[in-house]
Order: sequence, then structure tokens, then C-alpha cells
Amino acid sequence: MQVDRVLYNGKIYTPRGFVEAGIAIEKGRIFKIAKKPSLPKASSKMNLNGLIVLPGLVDSHVHLRDQERAYREDLFTGTAAAAAGGFSLVIDMPNNKPVTMDVQSLRERMKLAEKKVLVNVAFYSAFPENTKEIRNIVSEGAIAFKLFLLEKVGGLNIDDDTVVLQAINEVKKANVPVAVHAEDKDICENEMKRKQENRTDFEAYLEAHSSNSEVKAVQRIIGVAEKSEAHVHFCHISSAKSLSLIKKAKAVGVNITCEVTPHHLLLTSKDLKRHENLAITLPPVRTREDMNALWKALKQDLIDTLGSDHAPHALKEKKLKSIWKVKPGIAGLETTLPLMLTQVNKGRLTITELVQLASKNPAEIFHLKDRGTLLKGYCADLVVIDIKREHKIDSSKFHTKAKFSPFDGWKVKGMPVKTFVNGRLVMEEGEIVAKPGTGEIIR
Ligand code: DOR
Ligand code: ZN
Ligand code: ZN
Repeated sequence: MQVDRVLYNGKIYTPRGFVEAGIAIEKGRIFKIAKKPSLPKASSKMNLNGLIVLPGLVDSHVHLRDQERAYREDLFTGTAAAAAGGFSLVIDMPNNKPVTMDVQSLRERMKLAEKKVLVNVAFYSAFPENTKEIRNIVSEGAIAFKLFLLEKVGGLNIDDDTVVLQAINEVKKANVPVAVHAEDKDICENEMKRKQENRTDFEAYLEAHSSNSEVKAVQRIIGVAEKSEAHVHFCHISSAKSLSLIKKAKAVGVNITCEVTPHHLLLTSKDLKRHENLAITLPPVRTREDMNALWKALKQDLIDTLGSDHAPHALKEKKLKSIWKVKPGIAGLETTLPLMLTQVNKGRLTITELVQLASKNPAEIFHLKDRGTLLKGYCADLVVIDIKREHKIDSSKFHTKAKFSPFDGWKVKGMPVKTFVNGRLVMEEGEIVAKPGTGEIIR
């Protein structure tokens, strides 16, 4: 038999650990993982020169924009950034213009994506006003819902716990998870109003988006999750106090998981000034104690996923004079893997932890069938990494439209050098080598 492609002479990360072997790919799936003599013939062969192969990264937290926000990012540039960063699947957040929040808006976005995307893309929906619509949105192909608690995005009255519980119950029936941005709207709005008039310093911004506001939102939603038994996934947890609440709730069996971002693991509020707004994101990066607590939780297996929270903006939106007007967000797709591989090289993170957080767990949590693991029969989504490659982050070379980053100039060790999506080579040595539309819409 002859298969489509054979990659040989690699170090393949399988659930049983590394094997020095090759991968045979047929019709977009892994046909066999074996040593060279046992691999079938193939129309295309590639020598991996001993490099490591990991499951392609799955980022369950990206804002791909497009439509009326295409000046910030579009589905092509965003997925090019994903491919360049070693991601083979990303899940798009719904706070778009128009907001993804019903069958119509989801269908439009999927249709647009079909022709443009380079990696696989799945979609979140925001909550519609009428929770009975949730079912139809899931039938249309949304794989999760996003609950944004900082302000109203979509149709749901987020101030009313009964309404929120009812919505989450519907999501539970549809058997999809709910991802939550946990910052309390009232606390943040009130604090902002109090400060806005006479303060524009970073400190004021941090006070308005305090860890207490995160804690209040986390506490509130844990309560709802307990009642509904729906799967709640907390996005970008940033504070030590929230972590202890999550730890307690997990211990008593509440159905929750949580995410951490590279910026919350690697930056603190002390870095804000130096980066002139580029490190402004929500929730904000916090104290060293908070950062250390995130690492500790990660090592204790309390963190489930690593998400980039890729949130591109135009440079002028980041450079606005008033801190209250600056758009929060960091474009993270092209820095996440190099930054994390650097931590692997430093001995702070293991490859096993990285694969769990960035491939295996997100695939499981979001029910992405046959993804996130390298095994026979699974989709051939792979990233080839050079763990020894040293590089200096240069945001001017990014594929995202947001060609700036608080990580610009950082020295990293460990780089993705090839990304395969459904068995197709999409990125090689930082270049995009596939056509738009190569990625699949995952429903
Ligand atoms: O920093 C952020 N940027 N936090 C959010 O919750 C939204 C996001 C965005 O869409 O820009
Ligand atoms: Zn968020
Ligand atoms: Zn986000």
C-alpha cells in the first residue's frame, strides 16, 4: 500500500512518551507511527532530521476579528499567525462586529472562514437573548459558549443570576462547555467611574480591574456551575485568590476547568510602564505573588489549558493617551510556543505538561474529536519543533496584523519549524506554504 505522506526520522511525542520513529499519513489522518522499515511507501517523504513532533497546538482562546474589525485582524492573517506559532486548531471568540450570537451570524462567519483559514477553526457563540436559541446555535456548529461578565456581549442579561443559570442549563443540555471571562462588571465600572476623572496611571487601571473583581466573578459562577452541573471553563485566571477558589471547587467535584495565558505566567504589573500600553490586557497582569501562584497551580495540575488570548488591535488603539481608552489585548499566537519552549529549556515546564495544557486538554474539554494527541487514527495535526533553536522575538516579522508585542526582543530557545494541518504542510520555517482554505471548519 502507498500512503499520502511519510515523515521519517523524528522524535514523536505519543501518549506513551517519545518514540524515535516516523509517521505515515493517509487522508489527513495518522495511519501509522513506526520505525522506518515498518512504514508504508508514500508519494511524499520528508526527513525530520531527528526533530521533535508534538500534537499540533490547540488554542481555545483567540480573537480572529475580521468583518468590521478586519483592520485589526482577519481570518487569513489570524490563522497564518496560528500556523506560524505551531497551532493547528484555534477556537474563535464571539466578541466580533457583528457579534457571533445566533445562527445567522455564526453561519456568516463560517462561510467567510471556509475560504480564508489556514488552520482548523472552531467557533464560540455569545449567549443569545432567547436561551431557546442555544440549541439551534449548537446544531449550526458552535462548539462552546462564551460568557463575558465585564460587559454585555450578546443578548443575555448578565446581571441576573437566574437568567445566567437558565442559560447555562440550556448549554448543559446541548452538551457543550461555557467559557467565562471572570471580571465583575459592577466592581470594575464603579471603580473606573471613580478614578477616570483625575487618574490616568497604570496603578488606577489595576485598581479598577482588581483581583477582587475576578474573585467575585469566579465565586459567582462557581455557584452557578454547582447548581447546573454544566462544564464551566474559566478563561485567563490571573490571581492567587481565584486559584484557591477554583482549587476548592474542583476538590468537591464542581465541573470546572481553567486556563492560563503566557502573559500572566511571564509578566507582572511592574512590566506595564516599560511597554507603553502594549502589555495592557484584561484581566491585567498582576503581582509577582499572583504570577508565582499561577506557576505553582500549573505544577500541581490545577490548570487545565494554556490559551494565548490572541487579541490583536491597531497600534493606534494601543497608543491612545488615556489609559481608559486603550484597547486591552496582546497578540499571542506567534509568541506562545517559543515562550513556553523556553520555559521547557529552563526546566520550569515539562514537554508532557506543555502537551497536556496546549493540545490534549483543550481538545478534550471542547470535544474536538480525534485531535490533540498523536495516535493511529487521529487527525494528522502536528507541529515539528526545534527545541535547541535560539531566536529573538521580532514582532515586525509577525503574520498577525498586530506587529507589536510586549515580548518583542525577548530571547527564546525552542521554535516551531513546521506545522501540519490535517496532514498538509501549512508552515515551514516561519513561511506560510499552503493556500487559504486549507484549514477546516470544525463543527
Ligand atoms: O484583553 C482583552 N482583550 N480581554 C478581553 O476580554 C477582550 C479582548 C479583546 O477582544 O480585545
Ligand atoms: Zn477575556
Ligand atoms: Zn479573550
